[in-house]
Formats: sequence, C-alpha cells, structure tokens
Amino acid sequence: MGGEYMYLIIVGNGQMGRIIKGCAEEDKAFDKIEIVEPLDNKWPEEKADVIIDFSHHSAIKDIYEYCRVKGGNIPVVIGTTGQDETDEEVIKQLEKICPVERKSNFSRGIFMMNKLAEKAKDLIKEEQKYSWDISIEEIHHTKKKDSPSGTAKTLCSILGEPWENVAAIRMGNVFGEHKIYLAAEDEVIEISHRAYSKKIFALGAIEVAKKMMSLK
Ligand SMILES: NC(=O)c1ccc[n+]([C@@H]2O[C@H](COP(=O)([O-])OP(=O)(O)OC[C@H]3O[C@@H](n4cnc5c(N)ncnc54)[C@H](O)[C@@H]3O)[C@@H](O)[C@H]2O)c1
Repeated sequence: MGGEYMYLIIVGNGQMGRIIKGCAEEDKAFDKIEIVEPLDNKWPEEKADVIIDFSHHSAIKDIYEYCRVKGGNIPVVIGTTGQDETDEEVIKQLEKICPVERKSNFSRGIFMMNKLAEKAKDLIKEEQKYSWDISIEEIHHTKKKDSPSGTAKTLCSILGEPWENVAAIRMGNVFGEHKIYLAAEDEVIEISHRAYSKKIFALGAIEVAKKMMSLK
C-alpha cells in the first residue's frame, strides 16, 4: 500500500457484494473497485491487487482460473460459505498460487464468540461433577442458501459437535443469530451473538484485505 495504485475486485453482486462495494468506496485504500458477478462470468483484463469473494461456492473455479491466468500472487479473501468437496480442492489449489484468507464470519463479535466457545470447551473438560450438554442454534433470513451456516459449522468444530445437531432456523430477514446452549441438570447457560447489520461482515473482510495487501 502506501500511495500505490490498488485495484479491488469484489466477486458477487448480491447483498454482501454491494455492501462491501459501498464500504470500500468510503475507504481510501482502494483506487478502483469493481464487482464481478459470477453468473455473468465477465472477468476484467486488468490484474487485481486483491479479491474479496462473497458470492456462491461454485464461483471459486472461475476465481482460481482468473488468478492463474494473471500469474497468481493476488490476495484472496473468501467470505463465501457452503463449499463442497470439489470446491475445497479448488481452494487448496488456489492457496498454492495466492495468499488466501477465509472465514465463515468476518464480524468481531463472532471472533469473540469463537474464543468464548474455546474457553467453554476447556471449562467443560475440567468439570468433574457435572456433565454439560452442548447445543448450537442458528437463525438466518429465508434466502440463505447453505444450512447450517458456516459460522455454526465453525462453532461445531471448536466444540466437537456434529453439524447434524445444529438447529438451523430460516425466517424473515434475520441477518444472523448464533447461540450456544450449555445445559446441566436444572440450569442452562447461553452464549449468543446477534448481527444487526451486514456491514459488520463487510468491514471485517475489508480489514483483512488491507492487511493482506500490505504484506504483498
Ligand atoms: N463470512 C462472512 O462473514 C459472511 C457474512 C455474510 C454472508 N456470507 C456469505 O456470503 C455469500 C453471499 O451472501 P449474500 O448475502 O450476498 O447472498 P446473495 O444471495 O445476496 O448473493 C449471492 C451471490 O452469488 C451469486 N450466485 C447465486 N447462485 C450462483 C451460482 N449458482 N453460481 C455462481 N454465482 C451464483 C449471485 O448472483 C450473487 O452475486 C454467502 O455464501 C453467504 O453465506 C459470509
């Protein structure tokens, strides 16, 4: 960075892609910002300095192809969730040619919640007298494509719970709610996070993109 020309490509012209564009336009770090819609598949000639992907899991093949043709070494921030095994393989290939940062949730609150889940796991392990049942619940808007959410899957892997046990609710236009229940006899602890806007994810992804650009 530091006065250099910076070209950001955002993959996905959905809700997140447009919010990221708005936030990036308010940020002095970027000189040129463009959205590439994966369904249109029109990739620019110019090589990007950084890519932020919040689209659909199947778009990763085209992202890889663009990066490969441009000679690699483009930092890629992946916020898209719902990847299948084939997509995971493509991401592994991408990591060989580009720095990749991937998070199922870019909000600060979920970063904290993951830490609290790690702590809870340790405390449960130390507990001698009681056994605690762990349950995870997530609520999202009805248009969300994957289920359970990537964030709930991350919480599952921290807590050692199977994804199949997540209670995934789809209703209204809820941006995202995640809850961990710890239940012992006659008492329940709840750790919960509620997103009040999608901007928190956009700003988190932009922060990571800027960090990666400075390391280029
Ligand atoms: N990591 C995070 O912090 C975070 C936060 C919010 C959303 N997300 C994820 O970001 C992604 C986008 O979310 P959104 O709210 O903008 O969704 P959206 O539905 O508004 O947008 C989806 C985008 O993917 C494209 N798309 C849809 N089907 C496609 C297909 N078959 N092939 C290629 N492209 C396709 C759409 O045209 C659009 O550009 C989702 O995977 C969501 O889970 C991640």
